[in-house]
Amino acid sequence: MLFLAENKRVLLEKRYKAALVTGVGSGLGRAFSEMLLKEGIPVWGTSRNVNSLERFSGIKGVSLDLCRPDSIQDLLMFFDDRGVEIDLLINNAGFGVFGSYTSRSFEDWSRQVNGMLTGTMELTHGILKRMFLRKTGSIVTISSLAAEFPIPYMSGYNVVKAGLSAFTESLMIEVEDSEVTVVDFRPGDYVTGFNESMNVEGKAAARESIEKTVWSSLCRIMSKAPQPEKAAKDLRNTLLRGKSGMVRSGSFFQARAAPFLARFGTSSMKRCGMMKYFGIR
Ligand SMILES: NC(=O)c1ccc[n+]([C@@H]2O[C@H](COP(=O)([O-])OP(=O)(O)OC[C@H]3O[C@@H](n4cnc5c(N)ncnc54)[C@H](OP(=O)(O)O)[C@@H]3O)[C@@H](O)[C@H]2O)c1
Repeated sequence: MLFLAENKRVLLEKRYKAALVTGVGSGLGRAFSEMLLKEGIPVWGTSRNVNSLERFSGIKGVSLDLCRPDSIQDLLMFFDDRGVEIDLLINNAGFGVFGSYTSRSFEDWSRQVNGMLTGTMELTHGILKRMFLRKTGSIVTISSLAAEFPIPYMSGYNVVKAGLSAFTESLMIEVEDSEVTVVDFRPGDYVTGFNESMNVEGKAAARESIEKTVWSSLCRIMSKAPQPEKAAKDLRNTLLRGKSGMVRSGSFFQARAAPFLARFGTSSMKRCGMMKYFGIR
């Protein structure tokens, strides 16, 4: 058994010479990076405040703000100038915007879609082109179960995650006859700093409203969610399989039971279930 485990470790270390993980300062990104470092894979990790990464030993920090297109191109150039060949990209960075669609400014939604969806696509475009030239590499995009089960009052986020899943599924066909693999990794809830850094509309969260009920439910559900190390273990198993595909990760209910049950219901039944889950029915 020990021999097999050691063999698998060597397998990942041999397959990947350099990984790029976006948003490594906290939560899932941090757990993914620690797992990759343990596997012996050198990790480049991004933050909008690269100095904040100094406390994480082993990670080579680089600056990235997905909401600034020049920042994405600067990062690609940074790697080219140094001859760094990224053969594993984990598109992890992201943020939430909470509130009813019309109570928030349209700029809030478009910033989220431009940063998280268009920005992630732009970074992937640059890295995938280089992977095709070298005929090897893997791209894992962290979407969310929100792609299948839209979270109330997070319309922009749901659009981003469904878009990232559709994007990754499109790429799966395009990489089919190459050595490159792409994975749509869909986490359910995990205990991270996600809710604390969420852009919540002050007024909506404070007043007695459906939004307030949903926000309380989100915080309660998140506090009981699994730890990010579980997601890192699922990601490791996914990388070991070495194939393109979609992977759900999370609690048994969110990642297994709910998607299974949703297959047999209508969309209105699914919507009712979601509203009950968030306490608004
Ligand atoms: N936690 C969950 O329950 C859950 C469930 C499903 C999917 N996800 C997804 O998992 C990913 C990681 O989230 P998390 O839960 O680990 O949350 P988190 O702890 O808040 O981490 C998010 C990371 O994204 C980075 N980031 C935020 N805005 C950015 C921007 N404009 N440009 C570049 N980087 C940015 C942050 O880095 P800096 O602040 O250092 O720049 C941070 O390290 C996200 O894509 C999230 O949507 C999370």
